[in-house]
Amino acid sequence: MLARNADRVFVFLLLSGLPSLQAAGLGGPVTFSKDVAPIFQKNCQSCHHAGTSAPMSLVTYKDARPWARSIKQRVVQRDMPPWHLDKTVGIRQYKNDRSLSDEEIATISRWVDDGAPEGNPADMPAPLTFPPDSQWFIGKPDLLVTTEQDFMMYPKGPDWWIDQFADVKLDEDRWIQAMEIKPSNPKIVHHAVVNVIEPDAPEGTPSGGVQLHEYAVGKYGDIFAENTGRLLKKGTRLRFDMHYFAIGSEQHNHTTIAFKFYPKGFVPKYQVRSVAIRNVPNDELEIPPNSVVRTDGYYRLTRNARIDAFQPHMHMRGRGMTVEAINLDNTTTILSSVDHFNFNWHVNYIYADDVTPLLPAGTVLHMIGIHDNTAANPRNPDPSVWAGFGERSVDDMVQVWLDIVYLDDAEFKRLADERKAKGGKL
Ligand code: HEC
Repeated sequence: MLARNADRVFVFLLLSGLPSLQAAGLGGPVTFSKDVAPIFQKNCQSCHHAGTSAPMSLVTYKDARPWARSIKQRVVQRDMPPWHLDKTVGIRQYKNDRSLSDEEIATISRWVDDGAPEGNPADMPAPLTFPPDSQWFIGKPDLLVTTEQDFMMYPKGPDWWIDQFADVKLDEDRWIQAMEIKPSNPKIVHHAVVNVIEPDAPEGTPSGGVQLHEYAVGKYGDIFAENTGRLLKKGTRLRFDMHYFAIGSEQHNHTTIAFKFYPKGFVPKYQVRSVAIRNVPNDELEIPPNSVVRTDGYYRLTRNARIDAFQPHMHMRGRGMTVEAINLDNTTTILSSVDHFNFNWHVNYIYADDVTPLLPAGTVLHMIGIHDNTAANPRNPDPSVWAGFGERSVDDMVQVWLDIVYLDDAEFKRLADERKAKGGKL
């Protein structure tokens, strides 16, 4: 009996690796140099290094140590890294997933509980290098579009949200292969969401345009998958929805979006469009004081579709959003659910290639939005007032942006068969 147990412990040792044993309290002390620094490199430092808008660097022990308590709190609440999905439902694989595993959270937590020791500096992984501000991650751009007016941010005061604009100067429509947004002064920019206001937008398109691309600290552009692209139309005006911080002295910023195009004349096989599901008609959003409210929106797919990404959009009272498919056989499938939405972050959840939802024409997409207008919501500006639809941050919204690729029957069948052959789900 004893021997069998010993075997089991041995197997457990082999399978689980050191950090988890330490988190479970079986190994030596958890140290910054050996256990925590590798996690920070992988999940935190792209944002938390010198020169970004994140409040501190998490590169060296000296940088991180004073923040230990706050780090534990943010990590345990899954506030940091910013990734707000309920990881227990719906699709589990995303290309840009930066969340921590339960094991990593336990390691960080145990490190803090043990007094946040440094350990042996010789155990530190080699330091990462970060691309210089001037470098475009997507490669050499074909077109740069910069906001028309310089923005001046006051030295002290609350965060500021403002729309800035720029015209796209193109002689003809072009297919985008990659895009990237860069503020000139990243220290004061929390996020930028760029929308396209197209010259021939169909009736019912919001006057502020449809979403194209977003930037937040730590983000270095998006490159479309092979033979996949999005059309940038001649005559388009861009709206940059900016979120600024004050940092103690007067600051200025302009924001640039860079595009790389497919060669002229090349038309990608998979064409990405941005579709917004809202609670139309009239965005009838009603959020009475001191209440939690659910709002539903529906969108019937008239063509077969592949969904490449989803991005919930709500404001300060937003708490959760679920997107599900109501299938042709009247079953429903949850695609994704965000259970701790945070208006400070505009996260685009990009499905991994093998799990992108493949939905036949006739499927109904169902959006469920939850707003929390009670004092329990830490971001609620005032639980005693009624809120409804509006552009200001203190008003609210409920919509989800989907990156959709429409597929003809033959291509839909081909992709579905390929997926089934790999044992995957549609
Ligand atoms: C995508 C960029 C990004 C990533 C990745 C990220 N952070 Fe942050 N973090 C920020 C920004 C920006 C803030 C300040 C604004 C906010 O709180 O939303 C912040 C705030 C924090 C704070 C609060 C600091 C305070 O004022 O008390 C802690 C702690 C923190 N991050 C720890 C971490 C840790 C630990 C990781 C990795 C496990 C991580 N962050 C990953 C961008 C990021």
